[in-house]
Amino acid sequence: EKGGYPYFMLKEIAEQPKAVADTLLGRLQGGSLSLDEVRISDDDLRQVDKVIVIACGTSYHAGLIAKYAIEHWTRVPVEVEVASEFRYRDPIVDRDTLVVAISQSGESMDTLMAVRHARKQKARVVAITNSNGSTIARESDAVLYTHAGPEVGVAATKTFITQVVACYLLGLFLARTRGTMYDDEVRSVVRELSDMPEHIDTVLDTVEPVRELARSLAGARAVLFLGRHVGYPVALEGALKLKELAYMHAEAFAAGELKHGPIALIEDGLPVVVVVPSPRGRSVLHDKIVSNIQEVRARGARTIVIAEEGDEAVVPYADTVIRVPQTSTLLAPLVSTIPLQVFACELALAKGLDVDQPRNLAKSVTVE
Ligand code: BG6
Repeated sequence: EKGGYPYFMLKEIAEQPKAVADTLLGRLQGGSLSLDEVRISDDDLRQVDKVIVIACGTSYHAGLIAKYAIEHWTRVPVEVEVASEFRYRDPIVDRDTLVVAISQSGESMDTLMAVRHARKQKARVVAITNSNGSTIARESDAVLYTHAGPEVGVAATKTFITQVVACYLLGLFLARTRGTMYDDEVRSVVRELSDMPEHIDTVLDTVEPVRELARSLAGARAVLFLGRHVGYPVALEGALKLKELAYMHAEAFAAGELKHGPIALIEDGLPVVVVVPSPRGRSVLHDKIVSNIQEVRARGARTIVIAEEGDEAVVPYADTVIRVPQTSTLLAPLVSTIPLQVFACELALAKGLDVDQPRNLAKSVTVE
């Protein structure tokens, strides 16, 4: 049932192009989107004045990416919060708040409790989950299923990628309902989304050097990850994967924060993974991160750079360049996350660890 792979995680990483295609299937007609189960009217969606995304772990990182897309497309403010914090801080929630609960299992107790708390205060709740009929799906006003198929590996991979896709779909749906995007704009994002399975395939086909790199770093004490914009949550996810699978100290920072503290950590040979945004999109972002790479390298870091195909500006400062296909800035996480999953998985395997069942972790945590 591992389909010839020694671990479920390897199989699930490889299944991502199909998982994305399945999640898009039937939902992208001219940019319209059908939620699987909706008990929220268009009028109510037009009334929404704030979106709050709640989730735990990897699902929280999908939520962070959602913020960039949903705010950009809908101009509605989006907060993203870990479910366990949301619930206990007396959040400002009312009937005009749209809560988006992201949970692979649909059973995480922290997220479920946050959903109940939000509903009690009359917020509408949309669930993004991979589990049909799960508790969170049943208790929400609308459900958007990710069609990743069952995920056995404890560390989320294909469910994360499909959660990000679902968040984009939700953002486009809201933008259309609220009239904040022209049909042409929606269509162009939709077109790009449908190309994503192919792009992910390309990343998977060219990922061998990442495996070699990971094996060479199995003895490292720590790895830092840097990103900007949507690359920042990707960096957070890369670091979390490394903690979960390889039990390694891994930390991610917004690259702009470097100079405010983390740069003190840089020492000779420290591996620093940098997620670089497209130079063709917001070029300011790109230029800034290139100087961040220079800064850490000048202090001895071993720089591992994830950059778009054709981005030559990073080459002089990178010890290793990992290439991903060209995408728009907002959709880049769908390709840039993949090498980080492979990196963490391979590094853990090189240490002889069981990547499907990391110590101390459970696939679904049904206690608070
Ligand atoms: C953790 C899992 O316990 O729960 C993570 O080990 C997962 O992989 C997190 O991201 C959240 O789970 P869910 O099911 O709510 O997305």
